[in-house]
Parts: sequence; C-alpha cells; structure tokens
Amino acid sequence: MSNPLQQRIASQLEDFIREGTYKRLNFLDGPQGPRVRMEGRGEVIILSSNNYLGLSNEPAVVAAGKAALDRFGAGTASVRFICGTFTIHRALEAACARLVGTAAALSFVSAWNANEAVPGTLLTEHDLVISDQLNHASIIDGIRLAKAITKCQTAVYQHGDLADLDAKLAAARDRRVKMVVTDGIFSMEGAIAKLPDLIELCRRHQAVLVVDDSHATGVLGKNGRGTAEHFGLVGQVDIITSTLGKALGGAAGGFVAASAEVCDYLTQRARPQLFSNALPPTVAASSLASIEFLEAHPDRVAALQANARYFREQLLGLGFKPLAGETPIIPVILGETAAAIRMSDLLLGEGVFVTGFGYPVVPQGQARVRCQISAAHSRADLDQALAAFKKVGRQLQLI
Ligand SMILES: Cc1ncc(COP(=O)(O)O)c(C=O)c1O
Repeated sequence: MSNPLQQRIASQLEDFIREGTYKRLNFLDGPQGPRVRMEGRGEVIILSSNNYLGLSNEPAVVAAGKAALDRFGAGTASVRFICGTFTIHRALEAACARLVGTAAALSFVSAWNANEAVPGTLLTEHDLVISDQLNHASIIDGIRLAKAITKCQTAVYQHGDLADLDAKLAAARDRRVKMVVTDGIFSMEGAIAKLPDLIELCRRHQAVLVVDDSHATGVLGKNGRGTAEHFGLVGQVDIITSTLGKALGGAAGGFVAASAEVCDYLTQRARPQLFSNALPPTVAASSLASIEFLEAHPDRVAALQANARYFREQLLGLGFKPLAGETPIIPVILGETAAAIRMSDLLLGEGVFVTGFGYPVVPQGQARVRCQISAAHSRADLDQALAAFKKVGRQLQLI
C-alpha cells in the first residue's frame, strides 16, 4: 500500500533510525519486578518502571484480580450509567478518596482520561486554566482539549515559578473560575511541586488547585498518601488526579479525587465517563487490593524512600551528577537524544534496563536516562546496577 500518508511516515521512521532516536520495544516474558525476563536478553534489573512499591506482582494484588474475574466476569460491557456500575468500582473509589484525603473519588480507565476530563468538563468560556510549564503531556493535552471544547482561556507559568503564577493570576481578575494545575512529582525531573506556596497563592487568588499525583501516590509522605502528606497538607488540595498504573498495582486506570459535588458533576458530564467503558473489574479489584496493602504496610513506603536515598548517594559518589531531589525518580542529563539512547543501550548490555528519554518527551538538548527505584529492589540489585553505571559512565567519559 502506498499513499501520501504511508510515504511520509515511512520516511520519518527512517529519519528516526538514522538520527538514533528510534525507540525499540523490549518484550518482557514475565511479571514486573525488581528484575524482569526480557526476550532475547534473559534476566535484567529494571530501573525504569513505575512499580514503586513492588505491588504489580504482589500475591494479594494478583489474587484480588483473579477473584474479581470469577465474580464479575471480563468487563462492564458498556458505559457505567447505561449498563450499571459494579460494586467493586464503588469500593475502589471510596478507597482512593480515603487514601488521598478527599470526600469522594471517581475512577477512569487511565489518569490520562482523568486529566482530560477535569478542565474540559469543569471549565467554561468565562474561566482560565494555568499550567506549570513542565506538566505531564496528559495535562497539556487535556487543557488543549478544554480550550477547544469550552473556549476557556489558557496560560502556562514557568516551571515552579510562583512569582510568574502570581502575576498571571493577578492579571486574570475578570475570570470567574481560575484553575491552577501542577504535577505533584514532575515525572521527568523527579522534582516535587512547591505545594505549600501553591495552596497559599491559590487561596489568595481564589483559584482552584489541581494536583496530578500520579508519581507521588504511594511514594511521598510517611504513608504514601502523596504530595499533600509529604507537606502535612492532606485535605488542603481541591482536586487530585492520580493513576492506578504506577505504585498502586501498576495495571491501569486513574482517578479524580475531590469534593462529592465535583465527582458527581464529572459522573454527569465528563465525556470519558459518558462515552467509554469503566475499568475492567479485575483491574478495579487489584487496584483496591493495592490500596489496602499500602494502608496495612506503610513500611513499603519507607523501604522505597531508603532505596531511593541510597541509589542517589551512591550515584553521586561515583561522580554522576543526577538532578537534585528526594524522590525515587533520579535523572542523569546527557544532552542529545542519541547520547541518552546510547547510554541506555550500553546499560542494557550490562543487564540493566534504564530508558533514555529525548525530545519531544523532554526539551531539546536535555535528553536523559531516568532511573526509577522501587521498594522491591534489594541492595544487591542496586549495587549491581551501580556497577553497570560505573562501567558505562567511564566508557562514555561521563565520570
Ligand atoms: C504525571 C502523569 N500523569 C498522568 C499519567 C498518565 O497515567 P496513565 O498511564 O494512568 O494514563 C502519567 C503517566 O505517565 C504521568 O506520569
């Protein structure tokens, strides 16, 4: 088949390969864990998964999914309001709200959908939404969609720059609703949002604060309740979105946690709710079991935080200069995309799976390898990975 589209994308794919930016998929033949079985490579240590608490293969989490398959069957067979909502969704949503400290929660098939639903459903042409410059792609696309659907105004503030945000909010006095959106942990940097300042600023300007805690749920705070717990501010964020596809079992799904009214309104009007099936009950049940596991085992969060601290300190000791931070996301900036992909390839050759990220996932010239640490990593896993970093770092003259 040859048509203009086919010709264009075939030529672009060739460009990606020539530039060294082509992403090759690695196939796994077993569950996510601190080590995974990779087709053609055997067992490798994985430092690029969001399985922060090691719950994606936790026996209680897997068993809950299997039991739900027996009890509820494969899926919902339609949209929730048309065909019925399973009781497991209600139980999951109550647990999500309890975990992050809001009155209610509503699940979606992904955090992407949750982020798409919030501005596009809640805002109108009289409103403004302001987004941190480094927010996740799902927030950015959700806002683009909101602008097209609702005709709301949109703006971007410099990453973490509260003075810039303050000025933009001050200039928007005529807007009926002002919504500020930030990641809780910025996924490519590992930086934590300045939540106390953001809350203060939003209160002063009567703005609504939305925090996407996808990388912070299960990760930050003594009990893994997220960015708000990290700062002692549980209950102070207006709207939290998060994923079930990372620390909470790693399968899929997301949620919006907010007031009962916001969640009810999203149930009535959010297009991803009204026109798309709900989470499969297997996933809802394993996510619920993950939250219950987390509530019963806060020591997992402490183990994650200790592992992240150890890896970061050792990496610094080797002479690498990872971006400063205190989260399990530890990026090493390399510059060009091809350099990040090359380092990632060399590390894989040493049995360590760390993905290299380049443009357009991160800004041009700031390509990086991003290490993600899990509570499930043993000291031996981390030490073996560090030995690979040392070897490859010397080979590439980075250290
Ligand atoms: C900050 C952030 N928000 C949202 C998402 C989307 O999550 P999901 O996989 O549930 O759609 C991600 C996933 O990479 C993310 O990092």
